[in-house]
Order: sequence, then structure tokens, then C-alpha cells
Amino acid sequence: MTDTVVIARTDAVLEIRLNRPEKKNALTRAMYDAVADAFIRVDADPTLHVALLTGTGDTFTSGNDIADFQARATGNTESSSSRFLPTLSAMQKPLIAAVNGAAIGVGTTMLMHCDLIVAARSARFVMPFTSLGLVPEAGSSLLFPRLLGHQRASALLLLGEPMDAATALEWGFVNRVVDDTELMETARGVARQLAALPPQALRLTKRLMRHGTTDVTARIEEELALFRERLVSPEAAEAFQAFIEKRKPDFSRFS
Ligand code: COA
Repeated sequence: MTDTVVIARTDAVLEIRLNRPEKKNALTRAMYDAVADAFIRVDADPTLHVALLTGTGDTFTSGNDIADFQARATGNTESSSSRFLPTLSAMQKPLIAAVNGAAIGVGTTMLMHCDLIVAARSARFVMPFTSLGLVPEAGSSLLFPRLLGHQRASALLLLGEPMDAATALEWGFVNRVVDDTELMETARGVARQLAALPPQALRLTKRLMRHGTTDVTARIEEELALFRERLVSPEAAEAFQAFIEKRKPDFSRFS
């Protein structure tokens, strides 16, 4: 079996690659855990200064595995991402994302907790929570309106409209957009730049910039409580079943 998360170290940089391309890097519990463990490793190892997150193939990640959502809704209600999200938002060292294609659901919301984002021209950011009968997570219901204003955030979070790479750059969601073939070279260059800086100064600066984000932590918890309720809702059941059956969901019976 191939590793669904591949970890590779180059000097002070730990590269974390989501590696389930046959399922568009949909995140399973094992993958969330492996990524969270890698974040913890970077923070704990004084010889590691930076983490770089990317995906294999044409998709950064298609978000939470929908079959896992369905399994949780029908019994195992423990959230796969309940350890991942707090670990991500509490990370002390810089985290760079290299977005190699579509970033869906948590694939986009997790990026709000990354420090620098390099996107391939093919990157596309989509948060289809409402169409799955769900609510946003990872603090995105607070962070997106704060970054983009209510109207743009509504297009992304209520309508689930995709945001392309050029728009993401214009709206300040990503730092750079480069040709797909240049993505990793550019992101690794940013990682090397950070890794050459004084690590303690970086950690303290990140802490200062993230300081006062107790409202984000509270929002993540509030969202998670609602998210758990929504997972077992009839609306979500219809959306998950439609995805599995590769058909359009029918929400006409819901009021
Ligand atoms: N969970 C589980 N399986 C997923 C998945 C997900 N989030 N996203 C994709 N897959 C699977 C597909 O079911 C398909 O499996 P199969 O080959 O066994 O049929 C395989 O990955 C390839 O996906 P496919 O839809 O054929 O590729 P595509 O290039 O046409 O589209 C996406 C790619 C990512 C746009 C599309 O798969 C998609 O929209 N996925 C769902 C995203 C989503 O709603 N995520 C949850 C967010 S909260």
C-alpha cells in the first residue's frame, strides 16, 4: 500500500504531501492524523524550521472523504479532523502551502491557517458546505468575512462559488500565482528563504500575528458542534448518498 501522506525532509524544511491521487487526495482520518503528527514534529524538532504542504497530482485535496462523512453520520460520530484543526491553528513555526489544483472544503479552509500560500495557475478554491447540507469549519465562517468582506465571503460560503487563482490573488487570499510547472520550485524557494531566517524571531512574529485569535478558537469549536449536528441531518444524508451514487442531490422535500 502506498503512503497516503508522504513526508520528506530537505535541510530545515519538512515537506508534507497529500498522496491519494486516485481519490483526488480526499482526506481520511489516517491522513489527518499523519499531517497533524508532521506539524507536531516540525514544532518539536529544533532542526526543523518550516513546513511545506502540497498534494500529488492535479488536486491539492478534494476535502474530507465523503464516504468517511457518511460512515460518521451512520454511527462513528467522532470527527476525523477534530485533532487536525486545533493542531494546525496552534502551529508555532511557519507553514507554507503549495496549492497544485483544486482545494475543496477543508482543502480551502485549512489554508486560512497557513502563513504563505503559493498557488498554481490551475488552483481553484471551493467550499461546497451548504450544498452538502453542512456548515463551514476551521474558523472559516469568521476568517473569510474578515478577509474578504461579507458579500464575497457569502458567494464562497453560501453559494459555494469557486474562486480561481487570479481572483484569490486579487482578493489577498494567496501570495503568488505561478505556472503549474513552477509551483514546487517557487514554494521551495519561499521555504528556503524562511528557513534561512532566525527561527525564534519567526516563531515570535507568527505568535504576535496570530495573537488575539481566541475568537478563532471559539469559532472553530462552535462550528464543529454545528457541523456534527449537520452530519447526521437528512439534508446531508441526501447529499452524501447523491455523491456516492454520482447523481444530483434532490433537496426539494426539505423545508
Ligand atoms: N471523498 C471521497 N471520494 C472522493 C472525493 C471526496 N471528497 N472527491 C473525489 N473523490 C473520488 C471520486 O468519487 C472518484 O472515485 P471513483 O474513481 O472511485 O469513482 C475519484 O475520487 C475521482 O473523482 P472524480 O469526481 O471522478 O474526478 P473529477 O476530476 O471529475 O473531479 C473533484 C474532481 C475534486 C472536483 C470532484 O471529485 C469533487 O467535487 N469531489 C467532491 C468534493 C467535495 O464535495 N468535498 C467535500 C467538501 S466538504
